[in-house]
Amino acid sequence: MTPRSFLFVPADAPAKIAKAQASGADAVILDIEDSVALSAKPQAREVAAQTLAGPRAGPELWVRVNPLASGLALADLAAVIPHAPAGIVLPKPDSVADVVTLAHYLDAFEAAAGLAPGRTRILPIATETPASVFSLGSYVSAGPRLAGLTWGAEDLPAAIGATQSRNPDGSLNDLCRMVRSLCLAGAAAAGVPAIETVYPDFRDEAGLRAWAEAGRREGFTAMLAIHPAQVAVINAVMTPSAADIAAARAVIAAFAATPGVGVVALDGKMLDRPHLTQAQKTLARMRED
Ligand code: COA
Ligand code: MG
Repeated sequence: MTPRSFLFVPADAPAKIAKAQASGADAVILDIEDSVALSAKPQAREVAAQTLAGPRAGPELWVRVNPLASGLALADLAAVIPHAPAGIVLPKPDSVADVVTLAHYLDAFEAAAGLAPGRTRILPIATETPASVFSLGSYVSAGPRLAGLTWGAEDLPAAIGATQSRNPDGSLNDLCRMVRSLCLAGAAAAGVPAIETVYPDFRDEAGLRAWAEAGRREGFTAMLAIHPAQVAVINAVMTPSAADIAAARAVIAAFAATPGVGVVALDGKMLDRPHLTQAQKTLARMRED
């Protein structure tokens, strides 16, 4: 199943990594980028490699490498790919071209490590550079490694020279709202899940729930986390409830009862094709656990 929750953990912090693996997250992202100081990158690579080489029950293990333009990404990949992470989180791509470049690097590292070609997935954080804003429709040609699209609300405003990413009332500024929407549409166009960005205020559970629920309503099916306390809320919000499933089944049953008919009525409301699509998508996200 596609993960519902991806928990970031700085890769130079072994005690936190152990906690992250026990957090209930569907996926853990061992971060070698922004949460790790430059002087600690070699240590972070080593700890990430050791973690990947250790017991693998529990969450999928992903690695966020440094941006391709940083000059650090090849050393990151050289350290971790031999230990077969589920995927690579790619920060600050300008467009799908960076994903294609990363895919070529992965082809080579997988071959060198004797791993199945194409096994390593790629999750771009697709909205972090000014150029990226104009390329969010480009991921349709990313190829089969693409696991989803996610976005960030901090790096882009900083790169553009904004002093804040939020308005005085706490809402996201226009630029962030725009790229968030383009991330949703870009992911749908590419046929991959859209993954909601982090909610940084990790002590505000009500705010987290509201943010995750808004994301779910708008089409995100998973979310990034920065603290173990956020995982249970995200998993709950991103799992269809019993009521959601019952409603979806009722819609599908209403169409099945009248084959060859494009529009039906259920409980006094009109249903047509998009409602059937929504119901099918809800059932596709059902979990066994
Ligand atoms: N993964 C695993 N464990 C975590 C964690 C995480 N992301 N965040 C916090 N913890 C642990 C702490 O180490 C602490 O453990 P302890 O009780 O054994 O000391 C416990 O959970 C409670 O943490 P708390 O005191 O509430 O927070 P903190 O001040 O220690 O940490 C952050 C706050 C923001 C530094 C921390 O949550 C963090 O490192 N988050 C991830 C940052 C990151 O990767 N950013 C990059 C993507 S934006
Ligand atoms: Mg960042």
